[in-house]
Formats: sequence, structure tokens, C-alpha cells
Amino acid sequence: MRIGVIGGTGKEGRGLALRWSRAGHQVRIGSRDAARASERAAELRAVAGAGDITGGDNAWAVSDAEVVVLCVPYAAHGETLRSLAAQLAGRVLIDITVPLNPPRVREVHLPPGHSAAMEAQAIVGAATPVVATLHHVSSTHLGDPDHAIEGDVLVCSDHEAATATAIALIADLGGRALDAGPLRNAVALESLTPVLLHLNKRYKCSAAALRIVGLPG
Ligand SMILES: NC(=O)c1ccc[n+]([C@@H]2O[C@H](COP(=O)([O-])OP(=O)(O)OC[C@H]3O[C@@H](n4cnc5c(N)ncnc54)[C@H](OP(=O)(O)O)[C@@H]3O)[C@@H](O)[C@H]2O)c1
Repeated sequence: MRIGVIGGTGKEGRGLALRWSRAGHQVRIGSRDAARASERAAELRAVAGAGDITGGDNAWAVSDAEVVVLCVPYAAHGETLRSLAAQLAGRVLIDITVPLNPPRVREVHLPPGHSAAMEAQAIVGAATPVVATLHHVSSTHLGDPDHAIEGDVLVCSDHEAATATAIALIADLGGRALDAGPLRNAVALESLTPVLLHLNKRYKCSAAALRIVGLPG
């Protein structure tokens, strides 16, 4: 699959690009600065097992993608989406944004549109199905492609086919993805990340995660 990662030069982008390229996907890292993304892509291609990773500006990363992953801080979420909305039409948008409110990142912050993902869907419109996921996968483990993703990865969307695409891509990252319902449920998913960040601090760890029990199989 052709995947474009907006803000792919960051902490989450690194692990996503490495793991998806290892699984055989074609990954374009996007950035506000094309040169920075090219450098990052070259760095990642040098990692053992890495595959097809290239870098350029965010618009370029979106332009050829079947699936686009939004990987920027919440402060840049709305502006970034508005600048790319027309190009996103017809592509699946995976939004991993947690609407943190620095410096109080260990407290739930509800954005004006209830969740970043719902705000994203309102900005990009019906031509772009939005999927909210990966909020609980810390870059600490994601960035080491040989480290297991221990927690479950909850997925919310109003679009069945987009949910299925995201679930398959998460399996390719090495995670167990679970359909967690409509996009509205992203309010709960996004709100759990500050709780995990609190647990990290309270129990002196770096990648607290969630595991759902009681499912069949
Ligand atoms: N880190 C985690 O463990 C984690 C886990 C789950 C979800 N998330 C969510 O994933 C998203 C990315 O997290 P991250 O830790 O990868 O973030 P990050 O490293 O702080 O930033 C990611 C990229 O966003 C771009 N960016 C920064 N400020 C921007 C701005 N004002 N306008 C446009 N682009 C900007 C930068 O790319 P360029 O400068 O190259 O343009 C940067 O490399 C966040 O929404 C976060 O809540 C993070």
C-alpha cells in the first residue's frame, strides 16, 4: 500500500515508517521542510530491514497515497488539515492525534469539536474517511521495530472499509487492532492517553498501554 505520513519526521512517524516499510508498504515521509524529510528517510533506509521510504514536503507525501497518517501535535492539527484538505479527498485519513494541552499533558483535554478526530472529519469532509487510532502506542516501543506492541490498538471510524484498512495496517505494525466503534468513540480513546501518561509518571515507566480482556478467541 502507498502510505503518506504527515509530520513523519517526528517520534511516531519514525516507528510507523520503519515498521510499514519492513512489511512491504511504500512510505512517504512528509514534513514542512522537504529536505528534513529526505534526510530522515535516508536515515531510516539505513536501518536493518527497512524498505521503501522516501521523504518530501507534506503535500508531496499526500499526493500519491492511498492512506495518509496525520502525525503532528494537536496545536498544528487544524491548520495542517485545512492546508491539505483538497488533496486528501478520496484517501483514507488515519488520525493519531491526542489533543494534549501542554504542559498539562497528564490531564484530559477535550477540544472544542469533542475530539481531534471529529474535528478532522469536519475539516476534510465526507470525501475523506477518517479513522482514529494508535493513541495508546508509545513512540518508545514503536520506534524499535523489533520490540513487540504489547497493548491493544483501538480503532474508531464511521467508515467500515476504512476501519478494515486501518486494522490490516496495524497488524502489519505488529499490533492487535480492535474495532472500537464509531468516530465519536474517539473522545474516549483520545482521553485515555493522558491517563497512560499519568501512569508512566506515577509508576516510573515509559510505555503504559491497554489490553482488552474477555474477547472470544
Ligand atoms: N509520541 C507518542 O508516543 C505518541 C503516541 C500516540 C499518539 N501520538 C500523537 O501523534 C502525534 C505526533 O506525535 P509525535 O510525538 O510524533 O510528535 P512530534 O515528534 O512532536 O512532532 C511530529 C512532527 O510534527 C511536525 N510539526 C511540529 N509542529 C508543527 C506545526 N506547528 N505545524 C505543522 N507540523 C508540525 C514536525 O514535523 P516537521 O517539522 O518536519 O514539519 C514534527 O516532526 C501527536 O498528535 C501525538 O499526540 C504520539
